[in-house]
Order: sequence, then C-alpha cells, then structure tokens
Amino acid sequence: MHMSQTNIAILLSGRGSNAKKLMEIAQSDDFPGKIVVVISNNPDVAGLSIAKKFNIPTYTIDHRLYHGDRDGHEQEIVSILQKYNVQIICLAGYMRLLKHVLLEHYPRRILNIHPSLLPAFPGLNTHEHALERGVKIHGCTVHIVTPGMDEGPILDQRSVRVSGNDTPSSLADKVLAQEHELYPAALKNYLLQLNS
Ligand code: GRF
Repeated sequence: MHMSQTNIAILLSGRGSNAKKLMEIAQSDDFPGKIVVVISNNPDVAGLSIAKKFNIPTYTIDHRLYHGDRDGHEQEIVSILQKYNVQIICLAGYMRLLKHVLLEHYPRRILNIHPSLLPAFPGLNTHEHALERGVKIHGCTVHIVTPGMDEGPILDQRSVRVSGNDTPSSLADKVLAQEHELYPAALKNYLLQLNS
C-alpha cells in the first residue's frame, strides 16, 4: 500500500540533535512524510552536516545579510519551501521568532519543540528558570507555532523529575533525552491526523 507522503522542511540554527531524530524516523517505511529540505539561518552548523549525511538538500539563509529585514529573510525561506513543495515545517532549535510571512503561508503547519512544560517557562533559559522556581516536574512540549512566543496549541508533552542536585546542564540533558522521543512521535501523529 502506498502511504500518502507529506513534504516536510526542518528549520534549525545549530546543533540539530532533534532534527537528527526527525531525519531518523522519517527513514522508516511506515512514516507518512518525507524531509525534503533543511534550512539554517546560521552557516556551518552541525545540523546542516547531519542533513548532508542523510542526503537531504540544505540551505543557509543567513539573517545577518538581511540587516533587520525580517520579512525579506522569511520571504527567501518561503521561496525555498515552495520550490520543494513543503507542507509541514518543523522548527528544531530554530532561534528566530517567526514573523507573519512564514506564519501566513503555513497556518497551523509549523511545529516547534520547546524545552519546558508550556505554558510554564516560555522563552530562553528554561532550565535555569525551572530550577530558580523550584518546580519538581519539568519537561518538554511540542506545539503548533502561532504569532505569540511559545503560545500555540500543545500537541504533546513529556515530563522529567527535577532532583535536588540538578544543575541547568544536567536538567537540560534529561529533558533533551525526552525531546528526542517526543518530537518524532508527535510529528508522526500530527501527519497521520492530517492525512486521515
Ligand atoms: C532544544 O532544547 C529545543 O527544545 C530548543 O532548542 C534546543 C535545540 O537543540 N528549541 P538541538 O539543536 O535540537 O540539539
């Protein structure tokens, strides 16, 4: 039986460990989508090298070359996405806030992974904030991207326990291990739901 395939793009800015997990699951025969392009706003990052190993086309659209023209930067990304017929975008450590150009072209079609149990701790430095606040349960969230930062509808979450001797970096490691399981599973579910 031929599975219907959704064309997926990954946007990233750095290390790409979540992106790698998405690339891995997308290789399995029963995955209802294909990662057709990986785009970074930073040149020479590890995430781009990973994509090359998976033989996925990569692009760097360096925001610095747009001198604050956020719309122009996003418009260039959109033209690549259109060239590859992309239907779903996964942000995976993409460290830019999305403006209206991308969001208007892909409403409810952009997913993100965030390292906290939203709506707690939106924004940066989530593990520091979790420790400062003294929460005992922390985790990660996959959500749909909307104009508000880390505000869109939640698709799924995973939790970890915070222990007394956790540091921001030990907590980040624990959460990242959960992110690596959560994001591929949440993406797969989202695609299945889209296609049903
Ligand atoms: C992850 O913690 C993710 O939740 C956040 O940025 C980090 C990216 O890490 N949005 P990686 O590039 O996927 O390794």
